[in-house]
Amino acid sequence: MAIVEVKELSKNFGKVQAVKEVSFEIKEGEAFGLLGPNGAGKTTTISMLSTLIPPGSGDAFVDGKSIIREPMEVKKRIGVVP
Ligand SMILES: Nc1ncnc2c1ncn2[C@@H]1O[C@H](COP(=O)(O)OP(=O)(O)O)[C@@H](O)[C@H]1O
Ligand SMILES: [Mg+2]
Repeated sequence: MAIVEVKELSKNFGKVQAVKEVSFEIKEGEAFGLLGPNGAGKTTTISMLSTLIPPGSGDAFVDGKSIIREPMEVKKRIGVVP
């Protein structure tokens, strides 16, 4: 099972499409790098995964817990160091 599963995550800020249908999986024990130019949507993606902002559409699962339906369960399982 993937420890992080991202399924077609999207987020708009007004007319700006910050994240468009992003999907990926991270396996347990894997070191995963999310790379892209300035403005690519990395920070917005991580903010959604860490439940700081809600996704516009799509969903993601951390240890099987939905960032939309179970944000407190996700928070219990993560540490974020910006
Ligand atoms: N709070 C916000 N309000 C409006 N636009 C935003 C906001 N956060 C990010 N954006 C826009 O969304 C896009 C993606 O930004 P961001 O996720 O910060 O990219 P990255 O971290 O890859 O540089 C950019 O066009 C940025 O200007
Ligand atoms: Mg950033």
